[in-house]
Amino acid sequence: MKAIIKSKGKFKGKLKPPPDKSISHRAAIFSSIAEGESRISNFLLAQDCLATVDAMKKLGVEIDLDLKTGEMIVNGNGLKSLKEPEDVIDAGNSASTMRMLTGLVSSYPFLTVITGDRSLRKRPMDRIIHPLTQMGAVILAREQRFAPLCIRGGNLKGINYSLPVASAQLKTALMLAALRAEGETVIIEPSVSRDHSERILKKQGADIEIHNKVIKIRPVERLNPLIFSVPGDFSSAAFFLVAALICPDSEIEIESLNLNPTRTGLLETLEQMGARLNVEFETKEGEPVGKVKASSSSLRSIEIGGPIWPRLIDEGPILFVAMALSEGKSVVFGAQELRVKETDRIRAMAIELNKMGAKVEEREDGLIIEGVDKLVGTEVESYGDHRIAMALSIAALRAEGETVIEGAECVWVSFPNFFEELGKACQAEVRLIQ
Ligand code: S3P
Repeated sequence: MKAIIKSKGKFKGKLKPPPDKSISHRAAIFSSIAEGESRISNFLLAQDCLATVDAMKKLGVEIDLDLKTGEMIVNGNGLKSLKEPEDVIDAGNSASTMRMLTGLVSSYPFLTVITGDRSLRKRPMDRIIHPLTQMGAVILAREQRFAPLCIRGGNLKGINYSLPVASAQLKTALMLAALRAEGETVIIEPSVSRDHSERILKKQGADIEIHNKVIKIRPVERLNPLIFSVPGDFSSAAFFLVAALICPDSEIEIESLNLNPTRTGLLETLEQMGARLNVEFETKEGEPVGKVKASSSSLRSIEIGGPIWPRLIDEGPILFVAMALSEGKSVVFGAQELRVKETDRIRAMAIELNKMGAKVEEREDGLIIEGVDKLVGTEVESYGDHRIAMALSIAALRAEGETVIEGAECVWVSFPNFFEELGKACQAEVRLIQ
């Protein structure tokens, strides 16, 4: 599918963000191993999270998900109840599904085979294979690091493990394995990454202690069921916040947004760039939620790298769009994790933004971006990566003429109504053609 986008000029919009993808995945997984009925509302009805629900059903869990409202009821039968899947589990495009599930099934004495789409089969799985193997799981993989993965689990022992990368997927995989391992598992993060799993596990009564970047977790007999509503996804909202900042005389307001500090590194970064943002918290309990307003701003360049990355890891592509339209030279370093996402996001954004008239130079671990006044509409490519497609769609709002985005259907993995919202909230002219 192609998306053809043209700005209609200034806008004043509101956005109801889609439910958070990370929290939706975890809601499906953690409620499946709880004892009793969990009720989750506002579950994200997008391909990635539906892959997780499907996988949990294949593991024998009874899940009733309303595909219109996102209301989900999970009848958890406890930590011992998962069954050997009769067929291969397909994680689709979702590394969260593949990595977290591999951790989960590693403690069960049965065989699980997990595969994914072409992009996912190229992404590194050795980061989960090494520690889970140390805990006692047997995991076979193509070239010892790529999916399909074949897991024979059981009889795990707790380990003391320093993560080689700050990855919440890896951290969660190990916490899930630790729930049924013998003894204590200690996980040490190099820098803080999203902590949704830790918050959920605490709610469920797990035996978990967290001291800064050290997590200690011990096995338990049971976990409590979950009852909550999934807040809006900050990573999806980020596209619209940047849209308002870079477009003249524009404003956007986004409500019910998850504002967990382990996710909102972009807000701090944009503020340092001179962004006019207004944040109001509705609640700080459990997962912090609030409202964010963004208005047109004269953005300045910035140098960014190091421990902030895990806190804005999914916002790289849209941050590069903001940098491409800021005054001065921005320097991005220490961002090599972006090369192993759904596509190589450093390379993809450098190539595609340059096609649109930006001045971007690719570096091994980042980019150098010299700001320009405006972009030009042309044909660009999504590389099958939802966040590249959405970032380029926002760049199109500051381009002269029309921008054509090839492979635009990939937005369905995280934000199915993205183009509809772009038309409404940013009043852009959007045409979708096959
Ligand atoms: C996620 C963690 C991040 C992020 C991904 C979702 C999660 O990946 O990029 O979109 O839900 O835990 P890594 O764990 O690879 O950093």
